[in-house]
Amino acid sequence: MPKVYIETMGCQMNKSDTERMLGMLEHFGYEETKEPKEADLLMVNTCSIRQLSEDKAFSLLGLWGKWKKESRPHIKIGICGCVAQQKAEEVFKRAHYVDFVLGTHKIYSLPEIIKRINNGEKVCECAETNQTEDEKAKEYSIDRVKAVNAWIPITEGCNNFCTYCIVPYTRGRERSRQPELILKEAKDALKQGFKEITLLGQNVDSYGKDFKDKSYRLADLLKELNAIEGNFRIRFVTSYPTDITDELIQTAKDLDKVCEYFHIPMQSGNSEVLKKMNRRYDRETYGKIVAKIRTMVPDVTITSDFIAGFPGETEEQFRDTLSAIDEFELDYSNTAAYSPREKTVAAKWVDKFIPEDEKIERLARLNEKVRENCLKSNKKYVGREMEILVESFENHKGKNIITGRTRNNKLVHVPCETDRTGEFLNVKITGCKTWYLNGEIVD
Ligand code: SAH
Ligand code: SF4
Ligand code: F3S
Repeated sequence: MPKVYIETMGCQMNKSDTERMLGMLEHFGYEETKEPKEADLLMVNTCSIRQLSEDKAFSLLGLWGKWKKESRPHIKIGICGCVAQQKAEEVFKRAHYVDFVLGTHKIYSLPEIIKRINNGEKVCECAETNQTEDEKAKEYSIDRVKAVNAWIPITEGCNNFCTYCIVPYTRGRERSRQPELILKEAKDALKQGFKEITLLGQNVDSYGKDFKDKSYRLADLLKELNAIEGNFRIRFVTSYPTDITDELIQTAKDLDKVCEYFHIPMQSGNSEVLKKMNRRYDRETYGKIVAKIRTMVPDVTITSDFIAGFPGETEEQFRDTLSAIDEFELDYSNTAAYSPREKTVAAKWVDKFIPEDEKIERLARLNEKVRENCLKSNKKYVGREMEILVESFENHKGKNIITGRTRNNKLVHVPCETDRTGEFLNVKITGCKTWYLNGEIVD
């Protein structure tokens, strides 16, 4: 049996694509290996959100190319994901040992591509499409990573064109997957023992906007998923601030399986910067949305993303980002220093670029603020009793520990002698650190 190794970089969307590509390859006789040196087919599923992610992909390809040249001429090398979509044929110039380039739009062409490269061809499949690949998706099973949570994409692509972001260029226009297929994938995952379903999209709240034959939105999908029998949880990411409707908040609150968790990237706390980012809200509007959710959904966790050092960002504007984290009590935020991306609007504002050392310095202050608020947020739960879904069991410094997640997405470490992965347990929160809570099982 030929062996395949896939290195996955980037977001959950890529992780989900990898699970689908492995499912396909297994159908055609490949076996997955976790050891790249054993593989006959090596693939890297790439991310291009920042320059660093792109560089990482090419340096891995370089290493594999060396193996191929020096000792293992028979191996085949492929690149897929967002860098592949963006660079297409250019990849061959930079890395001539690559056998195929597969973009993000047509992952189901993979079996055909493998046939062609095995006949000695070099293949580049990066055509864009404005349709989902629902029909093809039905033909193959998904080789999901063994875990408690199953990721299910509900939309692909993005129409927002934030001025810093490459995703609309690498993932194309927004397309919603059919509800029947999503429900089927959820039921299959639950049958396999998964205890949590996370719906994925760049902007989950626009789910269904593009359906011409029906009026069916995220709230409808959540209701249908919630009605599936069994004890499991439902989450959805990512939410675009101004697309979150009252109906959606109410639905999320009312449905017992939908967790009290919203990921709502703000990107900057300053309204002028937000305008230049082409985000369709200002600081005040974002604050109102967060406040509304907090009033309607008790114990809700709200997380965000922020960029430090966007072109032209002044020190004062950057401080608005720090104060927004405080003012809106954001429980946790992903952070990044601005990285110029090919084709995007902001990448052309070279004269406004913030020097590298200043961006790094702002990022460090931003991270410090995130740490501070995360600890503050965790402290609120000390003394409370909460339900966790256990995700893992490990021996840490001589002690057996299970790690689980609360409905509102807090990690909890609990001493436990046996592996309870996949179980729902009630725990009492006894203390906390910056990134997690400590708990004890309540009988
Ligand atoms: N759809 C989501 C974000 C997807 S990209 C949203 O609209 O919020 C994930 C995160 O990467 C973004 O939230 C942003 O904070 C970060 N990001 C995107 N482009 C970036 C760039 N050029 N430089 C630095 N960070 C970037
Ligand atoms: Fe990128 Fe903006 Fe789309 Fe998010 S909404 S994926 S940040 S363009
Ligand atoms: Fe995801 Fe990176 Fe592409 S964040 S959508 S893999 S650019």
